[in-house]
Amino acid sequence: MNEYLKHDEWCIIEEGFTPENHRSSESIFSLGNGNMGQRAMFEEQYSGETLQGTYIAGVYYPDKTRVGWWKNGYPEYFAKVLNAPNWIGIDVKINGEMLDLAKCEVSEFVRTLNMKEGVLERSFVATMSNGNKVKIEAKRFLSIVTSEVGVIRYSVTALNFDGKISFNSYIDADVKNEDSNYDEKFWDILNTKSMTGEAYITARTKKLDFHVCMNMRYKVLKNGQDVAATANIIEKEKYVANTVEFDVEQDDELSFYKYVSVLSSLNHSKTEISGNAAKVSATAFEKGYGALLEEHVAAWAEKWSISDIVIEGDVAAQQAIRFNIFQLNQTYTGEDERLNIGPKGFTGEKYGGSTYWDTEAYCVPFYLSTSRPEVTRNLLIYRHKQLQKAIENAEKLGFTNGAALYPMVTMNGEECHNEWEITFEEIHRNGAIAFAIYNYIRHTDDQAYLAEYGLDVLVGISRFWSQRITFSEAKKKYVMLGVTGPNEYENNVNNNWYTNTIACWCMSYTQEAFKYVKESNPARYEEIIKALNFDFETETTRWNDIIENMHFPVDEETGVFMQQDGFMDKEQLMASDLDPQFRPINQFWSWDRILRSCFIKQADVLQGIYLFEENYDLETIKKNYNFYEPRTLHESSLSPCIHSILASKIGDIDSAYEMYLRTSRLDLDDYNREAHEGLHITSMAGTWMSIVEGFGGMRVVNGQLSLKPLIPEKWQSYSFKVLFRGNLLNIYVSAEEVGVINEEGEDISIFIKDDEYKIEKSSSLVIEN
Ligand code: BGC
Repeated sequence: MNEYLKHDEWCIIEEGFTPENHRSSESIFSLGNGNMGQRAMFEEQYSGETLQGTYIAGVYYPDKTRVGWWKNGYPEYFAKVLNAPNWIGIDVKINGEMLDLAKCEVSEFVRTLNMKEGVLERSFVATMSNGNKVKIEAKRFLSIVTSEVGVIRYSVTALNFDGKISFNSYIDADVKNEDSNYDEKFWDILNTKSMTGEAYITARTKKLDFHVCMNMRYKVLKNGQDVAATANIIEKEKYVANTVEFDVEQDDELSFYKYVSVLSSLNHSKTEISGNAAKVSATAFEKGYGALLEEHVAAWAEKWSISDIVIEGDVAAQQAIRFNIFQLNQTYTGEDERLNIGPKGFTGEKYGGSTYWDTEAYCVPFYLSTSRPEVTRNLLIYRHKQLQKAIENAEKLGFTNGAALYPMVTMNGEECHNEWEITFEEIHRNGAIAFAIYNYIRHTDDQAYLAEYGLDVLVGISRFWSQRITFSEAKKKYVMLGVTGPNEYENNVNNNWYTNTIACWCMSYTQEAFKYVKESNPARYEEIIKALNFDFETETTRWNDIIENMHFPVDEETGVFMQQDGFMDKEQLMASDLDPQFRPINQFWSWDRILRSCFIKQADVLQGIYLFEENYDLETIKKNYNFYEPRTLHESSLSPCIHSILASKIGDIDSAYEMYLRTSRLDLDDYNREAHEGLHITSMAGTWMSIVEGFGGMRVVNGQLSLKPLIPEKWQSYSFKVLFRGNLLNIYVSAEEVGVINEEGEDISIFIKDDEYKIEKSSSLVIEN
């Protein structure tokens, strides 16, 4: 752990500059607006350790696969959201000396991420080697109103000298992905132009031909008044800049305003992109910093008005949940069905910015409750559009008859993960995609989705399971061999309980979906059966035979569901037996040692119990929780949230709280020593779940919302809002009472602790807790 950030309800604050923390801070203080994002690198030059990262949604690069030993079925490439030209750069020279925090004395350093307003701020005093002292105040934001615009105000005050200060404002396309497989650069430059007050670069990806144009304009104020200077125009092959220099006297403040437009060919025609970029930056320039900031802050207020969770009595917990919600809202806004949510969002390069099962398993519940239904619908349609590719992906592995295996990692539907134990074996992802359809319909009541888009995805997935599962003569049961469950600390295991469970559920739910479509829309039903060439009798007979005769490993002595067939052969150690110095074990142990150990990376059996909770009694849930929790290391970010929810379910509020802190402050306090690589964006939705579904006990039961609220001892109260089937409910919980305000929508009946209450529209209910 590394706890260097100050606790505050609305801001993330770093006081004092510690270069060793800088890469982690670059991740933590990242900005994004759904359309683009960037790490919190400095505007001015910095020769210390840094990962300069600028990313544009949907603009990716197929980097040629690199593996030690090629295996048939591996994809040709790994898709990466690529590091785009850096547009924030402003070199600052003080009397000819370059400002660089690695080379001057830094004091009064404060970096603040203002989450309420969506603004990154930084201030410090720098003493240059020539003795000149300057105060720097920098502020930037990526507009969530005009999502192609980024704005910076960078102010320098001369504290103890008269002399010259210059700004060299640039766009630099000579950038590289840190994770480039062959150390290649991915951009070609199409055109560069620098002129007085304006410059732009249009770059093209070497493969796939994505175009990006960035256009910058600027303005300088001295002590609040416009000042002009003749610009030195710089234009190089991959770089454009304007340098302007000013005379200052002691106490003068120069403020450099930089307005940049960032456009991609996802949204603009290639012939018009540079013209459009010029227009967008000109409009931003004319509107001005103040007006842009004002509308940006108002838009954030709007977002917070639905998605905020307020916790009273625990600043660390309050800050953490806001941080998680803030980052989710910065990453994905849901307007564009071509986009998805990379595990690191726009904050780093690990995982390539591509789509994982994380989206369906973790993010969907968050967006379902905090956004209009179309947002989640777009996430589902994204997979629907990739169904054909999932079928081709399965065909490459030998499956037939429309069986679909969705990729573990993808940008366009093609698999691009290339480790056999994950690519070929971590197939549970298929289940999460089916479950998300069910979850969406359960929450929104948009049953029509099944006939429109859902059913053919479900059929493809069920067909895959039906072929992937085989019959064991020895066991006289169906089995699923050679898989990796969510717990990636075991590979190539037989009968992973979670995967077997979700596979059977998929085949059963697909039949329910068929039934619904047949009854509600017979014409469409016939159309789907025909289009899929679905032999109902034969295919469902096999599915039902599997469902009835599937093998689920269970420990006979304790009745605990077994992770996989051989789990009890392992030496049964506890996480508490491990020396914390060697955690996370994946950074210290050899892989074979990890695989042979009983240590679990992330919720696995418990993940299954979480999804299908209604099938198990409380005793069974407790038994499994108490067995797996001590063996689980939570070295995947996706783990503690599920444990927290189940701990709340079994009434173990202390563990639920501990797991809540772990999931919510994972990056802020760097539990797994990896914040420098980027943030765990997708698990942030799990953090939200651990409050709403965990402490709040929110479930959808038979089409109605149900709450079973608990409250951690440290908290005076908490409240959250939920969009549910046309209602917006504001839920408040304290030790004494539970309140629900029906803010929007018609009258609604909900359950609180198993009692039903009707709440009329625009009215509220308060009951004793
Ligand atoms: C987890 C996977 C997850 C991936 C991306 C891995 O560490 O084990 O379940 O999909 O990270 O978040």
